[in-house]
Parts: sequence; C-alpha cells; structure tokens
Amino acid sequence: MENKPISKAVVKRLPRYYRYLGELMQEGVERISSNELSERMQVTASQIRQDLNNFGGFGQQGYGYNVSYLHGEIGKILGLDRQHNLIVIGAGNLGQAIANYANFERSGFFVKGMFDINPRLIGMTIRGIEVYSIEDLEEYIQKNQIEIAALTLPKLKAEAMAERLVQYGIKAIWNFAHTDLSVSKKVVVENVHLSESLMRLSYRMDHPVKKKN
Ligand code: NAI
Repeated sequence: MENKPISKAVVKRLPRYYRYLGELMQEGVERISSNELSERMQVTASQIRQDLNNFGGFGQQGYGYNVSYLHGEIGKILGLDRQHNLIVIGAGNLGQAIANYANFERSGFFVKGMFDINPRLIGMTIRGIEVYSIEDLEEYIQKNQIEIAALTLPKLKAEAMAERLVQYGIKAIWNFAHTDLSVSKKVVVENVHLSESLMRLSYRMDHPVKKKN
C-alpha cells in the first residue's frame, strides 16, 4: 500500500464503503463491479475507482472487487482490525446512551469506563460499565490503555477537560460538547454535532434539490 496522504474527503467516505461492503457480505455477495457498487451507493463508479485507487485499487479488470477482501482492507485502513479502548467523560443522558449502545463493540470500540463529578452517579453501572470519580481519571487512563475519550459533559467544562486528557496521554477525543476544542496537534479530535446535522436538514427542506429522472 502506498504511503501518500489520503484526502479528508476520501477518509470521510471510507466508513460508508465499509458499511455497504459489510451488508453485501451479509447478503452472500462475493464480488461486485464498481458500476454495481455505484448503483447501490448512489456515487459514480469513477468516484469509487478513484477513492479505492488511493490504496492501490483492490479491483481486478473484468472481475470487480472481492467484497470480503475489500471490506477487510478498508477495515484495516480505518484501524478496525484492532481493539480501541474508550472512556466517556460525563455520565449524563448522552454519556449513558453511548455506553448503552453495544454495537460499537462490533467495530472494535469498547467503552471501558465512565467518569463524572456527580456523587450520585459514581459507582453506578450502565451495561456493566462503571461510572468512576473524575479524581481517578489519570490513573485509570494509564492502567487501562485508554486511547479515546468521549466528551459528553457541559460545554464550559470541555476545554479544561480536553487539556487534562492531553496531559494524561489520551490519543483521540470524540467531542460531543458544542465547542471547538483547541488541543495539541498530537491529539486528534472528531466533533459530532447532531444539532448541526438537524440545521442542515432544515435548510434542505427549504431548498430541495430537484432529482433527475
Ligand atoms: P447531562 O447534564 O445529562 O450530563 C452531563 C454530565 O456531565 C453530568 O452527569 C455532569 O455531572 C457531568 N459533568 C459536569 N462537569 C463535569 C466534569 N468536569 N467532569 C466530569 N463530568 C462532568 O447532559 P447531556 O444531555 O448528557 O449532554 C452532555 C453534553 O453533550 C452537553 O454539553 C450537551 O450540550 C452535549 N450534547 C451534544 C450533542 C451532540 O450531538 N453533539 C447531543 C446532545 C447533547
């Protein structure tokens, strides 16, 4: 595989390829052409070929793509071939919903613990996942090989918590607090803002794009 940097746009599309290929595997499809995949995914076949060429192609002329091989390779590119340990900071509504969602584990993401400042929540378990005191954060990260922290605490607490997490050696922050974190470049941040998605939906309701027949 080539080591050239992959554009953000391609990386953004990879999980969707991974999902479609997983569905094809479940349907027992062994190989698929870029044209067939294009029809399913509603992206052009040339876009698919271009995207996958970033990683050396995977396709064979006249054969198409081997579905399970491509699924496995994209999984490796996305780092899904290994386990990632997560913690959730803020064990309120959203933090508990994340801990309750067992399906992340299928992709290798394991919520190991939750942290909060509220004494009423500390000691509680959600789907077997314990809520610990924030005082224990540093030791827990170091002892449990935690790579990712989900931030589901109030916006005003997020920046200080992110700085603390960087000091404790966290590699990645999955940020749900509605604020743009400015943290060391060594730490990757992925923001998830459902309300922004809703606003885009609202815009699109008012500005529909006419579909070609
Ligand atoms: P919540 O009030 O139910 O939970 C927040 C929890 O954070 C509480 O249990 C609180 O004790 C804890 N907390 C406060 N300060 C803390 C600290 N310094 N360290 C550790 N824990 C601390 O709130 P909810 O509804 O779960 O929302 C959490 C955050 O997620 C909010 O910032 C909210 O705006 C945001 N949110 C984001 C969404 C998104 O799509 N990005 C969707 C929904 C909520």
